Amino acid sequence: MKQQSWTDLPDGIRSAVESVMGPVLESDDITTWHGSTSFVATLTTETGRVFVKGAPTDDAEAAEQRRRETLVAPIVTAFAAPLIGHVAADGWTLLLFGYVKGGNADLSPDSIDLGYLAATLRDVQRVRPPHGIALPSLADQWAKYLNVEQRSLLSGNHLLHNDLVPSNVMVRQAGYTKQVVLVDWGRAVLGPAWAEYAGLYMWLLFSGHTPEAARAWLDRFPAWRMAGRAAVRAYVAGATAECETAPEHAARWATLLDP
Ligand SMILES: Nc1ncnc2c1ncn2[C@@H]1O[C@H](COP(=O)(O)OP(=O)(O)OP(=O)(O)O)[C@@H](O)[C@H]1O
Ligand SMILES: [Mg+2]
Repeated sequence: MKQQSWTDLPDGIRSAVESVMGPVLESDDITTWHGSTSFVATLTTETGRVFVKGAPTDDAEAAEQRRRETLVAPIVTAFAAPLIGHVAADGWTLLLFGYVKGGNADLSPDSIDLGYLAATLRDVQRVRPPHGIALPSLADQWAKYLNVEQRSLLSGNHLLHNDLVPSNVMVRQAGYTKQVVLVDWGRAVLGPAWAEYAGLYMWLLFSGHTPEAARAWLDRFPAWRMAGRAAVRAYVAGATAECETAPEHAARWATLLDP
């Protein structure tokens, strides 16, 4: 579905939002990276701004992303935008988040944002997800591509954001310093801590790192340094299979295994 603006949404869902936030004075559409979410915007009300995203309620993929965002919201409060509300009416379901005043991180070599991201990733790694949290595992995500042994190498109980494209990594001023805020937890999974760093590798390359520089940067994380080679190979197999229509991605993933 094409991205909708606030005024395109049915009256019922707009009044449901206004019953939570007060009258919407202004709306600014946000163009997203994948362009897959039907409605993404910041809304200005008398009390400030909120970030809103949502889709028709019968959109199963959007519903699954929303389910994961809602599940993790209480355990990622230290480094994610707060979830304010969940509003459904007229066949639409929206999530409302606190507005993050900032921009997307610059992950290019020598960018100061890399240090802020490293600090936040260490915080993410310290989260202990509640036992039984209904998140899929990384191995489940790639179940159709990997054999039993490969899947077992990807098992773990750490919370992984699992989609660290720079558009999901925001940077905001926090006192005299800055802080990375991770948004868009819709692909969150459970897995081994090192897999978060493996996933970041591709975005470091996209942001201008050479494979050598990206691997050297990742080596600062003990969890990454301790990852077994066979396990990283299993990760690369899954990530490569997932982007089989883009051979250039597969070539990039392969370099994660270079010595
Ligand atoms: N709480 C927030 N406050 C301000 N801006 C935000 C907030 N959350 C996300 N954004 C901005 O809006 C963009 C889209 O948000 P988000 O990634 O959650 O939507 P999405 O539909 O899943 O997007 P994509 O398809 O790009 O993954 C982000 O890239 C970010 O720049
Ligand atoms: Mg996103």
